[in-house]
This record gives sequence, structure tokens and C-alpha cells, in this order.
Amino acid sequence: MVNYIKKYNKKGKTYYYLVEKIKGKVKTLEYYKTSPPKKYKPNLIKGFAEKELKQIPDESVDLIIIDPPYGIEFKTNFRNEESDTIGEISLDNEKIFETFPDVVKECYRILKNNSAIYCFSRWDVTERFRAILNKYFDIKNRLNWVKNNWGMGDLTGTYAMQCEDIIFAVKGKHILNNGRDTDFLKFDRVANLLHSHQKPIELLDFLINKSSKRGDTVLDCYAGSGSTIISAVNLGRKSIGIELNDKYLNIIGDRLEKECYSKVKGINWIEKS
Ligand SMILES: C[S@@+](CC[C@H](N)C(=O)[O-])C[C@H]1O[C@@H](n2cnc3c(N)ncnc32)[C@H](O)[C@@H]1O
Repeated sequence: MVNYIKKYNKKGKTYYYLVEKIKGKVKTLEYYKTSPPKKYKPNLIKGFAEKELKQIPDESVDLIIIDPPYGIEFKTNFRNEESDTIGEISLDNEKIFETFPDVVKECYRILKNNSAIYCFSRWDVTERFRAILNKYFDIKNRLNWVKNNWGMGDLTGTYAMQCEDIIFAVKGKHILNNGRDTDFLKFDRVANLLHSHQKPIELLDFLINKSSKRGDTVLDCYAGSGSTIISAVNLGRKSIGIELNDKYLNIIGDRLEKECYSKVKGINWIEKS
């Protein structure tokens, strides 16, 4: 049986624990300094970002975190609604630049004033992403995600790539939470990848905590394996994820079960967003 427990220390300060009782033994699953977050069921949409964003109302989202498919060539199956056939589309470096301007325009429309957008990138596409984002948003930083290890690539002719860029931009005047941090974000890579571009939950937790509060709505329109969504749910944010590939949507479903919901089965805590 899973339940929340409220405790007090000697100074009368309140702490909260999410605990599970198995065969009379109590195991702590999560610990909170303030009351535990309410977990909201995410709104997951299958489709193309450039199309699906259009159904989201103006200024209804508090934070956007996107990880566009830069520099990768892959194919995916997708149902063509007009002809009702399954078509194979190929997404590559150049394809993203055909649709990204529309996506950014829509992101600006749906984002509330005084809010932030984070866009994962890589050194060889950052300038192009930046130019597109700059049409609407006020670009504040290029953050450096510094990883604990790096990919293979050309072992003798290039430097090993340990950094990835994150473009941080705002609409209006955005105040960051929890004091000032540097642009050097040190977070380990995910060990067993469910998606070739999976981002670590700890990094997403950091960004979501810096730029939103509980009950806010976070959007990721290139959701992949759902890292932004998992982080948002566990931090008590509402969330919207758009992803076109069934394989990844199924992975998001599995991750929600394992990484969010399973911890609290038996108590009624999920609310529809
Ligand atoms: C770089 S990955 C995101 C990985 C994600 N950050 C994670 O941690 O798993 C980009 C994802 O966008 C999806 N995608 C590509 N083009 C898209 C589009 N136009 N609309 C929606 N999703 C798209 C791909 O299927 C891929 O899963």
C-alpha cells in the first residue's frame, strides 16, 4: 500500500514522504521538503509538431522545452490522413529547417508572456536554430550541457564531443527560479538509452525547476522517449507532448507507468489535465 506521510522534526518543520508498506515494512519512495506535488496525466498527441501545435490556444503554455531532430537521418512510418495510407517519411538535417520556422512561430504564439523556451542543439546547427528562434524570442544564453562521457565519431581526426548546446530564450521578461547558476550544466548521459537522443531526467528537472512552478504547463513538441514529460509529471507540472513515431509514444507510455505512476498505485492522485 502506498501513501503520503507527513512528519515533523524537532523544530516543528514539516517534511513529507511517499512511502510503501510491504509485509509490514515501510519503504520510502520519495521525500519532499514541501508538500508532495500533485501529478497530472500528460496530454500526449501523435502527429507533426508543425500541425498539432495549431490546436493549442494562444498563451496557454508556461514553459517549452524542445529537442528537434537535428543532424540525424532516420525513417519513420506515419499514417497519411488524406490518403489513409501508411507512408514512410525521411527526416534529416535539412528537412527540419523546412518546418522549424513554423514550429517556432507557433511556440511563440502558445507561450505565455514572461516565459522561457529551451531548445537543445549542437554546435553545427546552433546558428541556424538561433536565427529562427531570434525572429520571435529574445535569446539569452547558449547553455552548455557537459556530459560525463562522449560518442565515438572520428577517433583520430576530431576532438571528442563532450558538450551539447541548449539555446535559452524568453518571451517578455522571464525571472529564473532558485538564484543564479552558470551556463555550464554538468549532467551524466543516460546509460541505457531508449532513444538515441534521450536526455537525462536530472537535466530536465533542473530546467523545469528553473523556469516553471507546480501546476504550470510544460510543452515538448518533439517528445521522443518522453524525458521532458516524465520530469514534468514528477515535478507536479501539467504537460503536453507531441511525437510522430508510434514506437516512441509506446515508450513514453511504458516510462510513465514505471517512472511516474507505479510509485503511487493504489492512491487516487492522477488528474486529467
Ligand atoms: C531528438 S529526438 C527527442 C529526444 C527526446 N528529447 C528524449 O529525451 O527522448 C526528436 C524526436 O522528434 C520526433 N520528430 C521528428 N520530427 C517531428 C515532427 N515534425 N513532429 C513531431 N515529432 C517529430 C522524432 O520521432 C524524435 O523522436
